[in-house]
Amino acid sequence: MKTALVTGAYRGLGFEVARQLSERGFRVILTARRADAGIAAAAKLKNASFLEIDITDSGSVARAASQVTELDVLINNAAIIAEGDSDILHIAPELVAQTILTNTLGALRVTQAFLPLLLKSQAGRIVNVSSGGGQLSEPGTWAPAYCISKTALNAITCQFAAALKDKRIAVNSVCPGWCRTEMGGQAAPRSVEEGAAGIVWLAADAPQDKTALFWRDREIFPW
Ligand SMILES: NC(=O)c1ccc[n+]([C@@H]2O[C@H](COP(=O)([O-])OP(=O)(O)OC[C@H]3O[C@@H](n4cnc5c(N)ncnc54)[C@H](OP(=O)(O)O)[C@@H]3O)[C@@H](O)[C@H]2O)c1
Repeated sequence: MKTALVTGAYRGLGFEVARQLSERGFRVILTARRADAGIAAAAKLKNASFLEIDITDSGSVARAASQVTELDVLINNAAIIAEGDSDILHIAPELVAQTILTNTLGALRVTQAFLPLLLKSQAGRIVNVSSGGGQLSEPGTWAPAYCISKTALNAITCQFAAALKDKRIAVNSVCPGWCRTEMGGQAAPRSVEEGAAGIVWLAADAPQDKTALFWRDREIFPW
């Protein structure tokens, strides 16, 4: 049985990814920074346990990593869009830094902490949940701090993929599309089930030799 860990997973896409993987027979480690919500969410799933992780807190991440003995798939899902993230012409650089601290450096910190376990897997996978907003080829103007943080997350994907090329670990970014979650809002065209499907495919079904790529709907998506 393979083990997958999902960050920020008590609600939204993270929970749906955890749910779909548990239905697929994975042992799931559902993580969240809110223990009460995380425990309640994990209790709804088969073969799931809860671990408290605040991805911005090195102590929290290290404590969690010390409690895990096996890991095949890491899904860096947790992210924020900060209040006031609306206009690159006037945005406070501190707001950009705060967003990068969570969305980019949080994923970096969690990946480093769990890498020793992934290296013991026969076919490790790191899935970074990114966004079309992070594309350099087609930049938009909404939520610039968030988009910059996802561009940088994509760079982290490429860095880890290069560093782990000979270690049987696939490292990819994926965009779930615009989905109805607290972050996406209720006007979004996609359900969480639809958004999570591409993430789950990358976590469970994509060919192991596909690495250093950006995906959407099981197809390669331009950086
Ligand atoms: N929804 C969309 O349309 C869409 C589109 C493209 C990409 N995405 C990406 O998909 C992923 C999931 O988004 P979502 O739509 O499901 O958003 P969501 O419902 O807002 O969920 C985000 C999750 O991240 C958690 N989180 C934030 N900061 C954290 C921290 N420091 N430590 C641990 N957990 C933290 C949140 O928990 P708290 O309640 O504790 O903050 C929440 O559980 C994100 O990476 C997002 O960028 C979403």
